[in-house]
Amino acid sequence: MNGANHRMDGVSTYPFAIFQPGWEQAGLPTGHRGDTVVGNDVWLGYGAIILPGRHIGHGAVVGAGSVVTRDVPPYAIVGGNPARCIRQRYPEAVVLRLLALAWWDWPIEKISRNVALLAAGDIDALERA
Ligand SMILES: CC(C)(COP(=O)(O)OP(=O)(O)OC[C@H]1O[C@@H](n2cnc3c(N)ncnc32)[C@H](O)[C@@H]1OP(=O)(O)O)[C@@H](O)C(=O)NCCC(=O)NCCS
Repeated sequence: MNGANHRMDGVSTYPFAIFQPGWEQAGLPTGHRGDTVVGNDVWLGYGAIILPGRHIGHGAVVGAGSVVTRDVPPYAIVGGNPARCIRQRYPEAVVLRLLALAWWDWPIEKISRNVALLAAGDIDALERA
């Protein structure tokens, strides 16, 4: 979802200012939390919700129906409401190697050539490619 929250410091949380000429004095929604950023090669399970301004690291998995209220590190698997880490997909040293590989930035021809390796688990071979 986008990066804004409705105001909660007044009586009404209704975003008057954006709906009717003459209501501008109500002020715009505050508490903008910045862009919501989903990294590359992220699997968002069915019905996952990412709250405003959260960052999902490359290669992460967000379980079905999860509500992500905190940033998700690269290659973590999270689930639940609020989403908690279920486990890491790889040890930290391997995560660093995968981030350095950044295969998602490869040209499409190179991805096509190595698609079997990308779907498999041999990171040494992927690095050699
Ligand atoms: C997150 C997910 C990938 C984890 O799969 P998994 O590694 O096989 O995990 P498991 O089923 O072994 O569950 C591991 C633990 O995580 C919990 N868990 C799994 N998925 C969860 C979810 N979506 N929300 C909250 N908890 C979840 C399980 O209850 C279990 O907890 P426990 O160890 O306390 O019993 C999977 O459960 C999921 O949500 N997949 C998304 C499916 C989907 O949306 N498909 C649409 C097609 S793209």
